[in-house]
Amino acid sequence: MAHPYDALTADAMRDGGSWKWSTPGVDAHGRGLIGAFVAEMDFPPAPAVAEAVRASVDANHFGYLADAWVAEMATACAAFWADRFGWAPDPDRIRPLPDVLTGLTATIRHFTPPGSPVLLPTPAYMPFLRVPGMLDRELVRVPMAHDKADEPADGDWSLDLDALDAAFSTSGAGLLVLVNPHNPTGRVLRAEELAGITEVVERHGARVFADEIHAPLTFDGRVHRPYAASSAAAAAHTVTATSASKAWNLPGLKCGQLILSNADDAARWTEVGYLSEHGTATPGVLASTAAYAHGRGWLDDVLTYLDGNRALLAGADLPGIEVTVPEGTYLAWLDATALGLEEPPSAYFTREAGVVMTDGAACGGLGGMRLNLAMARPVLADALERVAAASAVIRR
Ligand SMILES: Cc1ncc(COP(=O)(O)O)c(C=O)c1O
Repeated sequence: MAHPYDALTADAMRDGGSWKWSTPGVDAHGRGLIGAFVAEMDFPPAPAVAEAVRASVDANHFGYLADAWVAEMATACAAFWADRFGWAPDPDRIRPLPDVLTGLTATIRHFTPPGSPVLLPTPAYMPFLRVPGMLDRELVRVPMAHDKADEPADGDWSLDLDALDAAFSTSGAGLLVLVNPHNPTGRVLRAEELAGITEVVERHGARVFADEIHAPLTFDGRVHRPYAASSAAAAAHTVTATSASKAWNLPGLKCGQLILSNADDAARWTEVGYLSEHGTATPGVLASTAAYAHGRGWLDDVLTYLDGNRALLAGADLPGIEVTVPEGTYLAWLDATALGLEEPPSAYFTREAGVVMTDGAACGGLGGMRLNLAMARPVLADALERVAAASAVIRR
């Protein structure tokens, strides 16, 4: 049955003017470009979210954040996490952030030994490759393990625990950046994988920054498992960051949440957290509260729609491209290494297919591309057909 999102056309998205759809030009065949790179969805907002933003305008809520609004957001966030993921963080330890990136910056600055390197499994969310260096910290990339699959498959990417262990040993890193559900491979980690990570981190007396921004976006009955909730040791060494911005599509409203899971970190945050919290937008806090408290029906409908898009990708025949269908997130990893292109694959497919994807090199994953599936299904079908045709030309 048709869904209202099916009617969202590429032309309408281009007219909308968001970054995702504003790459200028046409492809080699004169077709308009399809924006499939930055991680946001093409769908209109949840009614509860739109209403909260409208109400904030009507009530002139453009002032600095009141403690009561922060407390309401923390309570709504904790209740959502408890219902959805079986972990109820203490609302007093859920603090506002402008975004998750600020959470990483603050964690490196305030919760790791001065000068200590930062471990990052790759491929990774692009800015995470740059943030440690900007804070004068060494970035240590740890490639994820990957079983090459003949058929489109999910679940074939995993953290390489031996490599992480060795990287901690040789670098003396103080922090592991753990993104789950994972951008860009779409992995949703199992309980035993989380336990394995804890063992390695504890062995080295290190900390974890758990980026769980994609937590509500899981498929096929998989449930997100908050890392800090996985054991007492994990709670003691973890700083978690999340946001309603991915699941409810409000990244421009600038609001995230830092979740502290031990008393020492909570006490330290009261000393050092002020500057990090300061950029949080008041309308973003009000909208995030509405999303967590009243946006569940909308979210479930979006998840069903995204699942249909995943099925479309799983059934697509993209010659020479290895597809990882995501277990979570709306981002899919396409490995185009076998095509043997002499240019970055995203450049080739932007020019020849008119589909703008994130190049794997920006994620630390050469030869790959990150495709955003969160678009109208007919537009995705068009995008996949174009990619298939452009890859078939090479394979011929
Ligand atoms: C894993 C991950 N972390 C962080 C972010 C950025 O979030 P924010 O805008 O809250 O910094 C993204 C955005 O795509 C992401 O995918």
